[in-house]
Amino acid sequence: MKRFQQALVFAFSLAIPVLALAHNGDHADPVRYRQSGYYLIGWHFAPMAAMIKGERPMDAKDFATHAQFVADIARVLPEGFANGPHKGKTDAKPEIWKNPGDFADKMKAFQEQSAQLAQIAQGGDAAQIKGQFIKTAETCKACHDDYRKD
Ligand code: HEC
Repeated sequence: MKRFQQALVFAFSLAIPVLALAHNGDHADPVRYRQSGYYLIGWHFAPMAAMIKGERPMDAKDFATHAQFVADIARVLPEGFANGPHKGKTDAKPEIWKNPGDFADKMKAFQEQSAQLAQIAQGGDAAQIKGQFIKTAETCKACHDDYRKD
């Protein structure tokens, strides 16, 4: 029993610094959270755009992988806007928190269209993929026009 307790104490002594780290400084910054999400989305969106524009050869498998990442990351973004506006260096307009319903609609449109893109990309039909890529890109623009500083 004593040995079990010691093991438990040891396990907690390892866990507590890790937990503390997870709730410190930058690791609890919602601005950094959402900017990181958008950075990843931009990362995966660019090669898809290049394939659509013909700047690089279409690779359906590669395209589908990027599309799935965008759809997955899109799902976490609302977390980075909760309980704002937040302090820090941000391009997010304060209007986001004045029109939460409209912002949520634009976020949802993006999540739905990007999920649809990931699904269509699996099918490999170039014309369909292009059409859905454009629809998805329009949801980026719709939100940036209203809620992101130039
Ligand atoms: C629902 C609103 C919304 C949608 C949809 C949206 N964005 Fe954004 N985006 C923002 C806001 C707001 C910021 C500014 C975040 C900040 O600075 O706090 C931003 C920032 C960015 C950034 C800069 C990230 C950085 O490094 O700071 C990139 C890149 C970006 N968006 C790309 C995209 C792309 C590509 C799409 C679509 C595939 C998209 N966004 C869809 C609202 C949106």
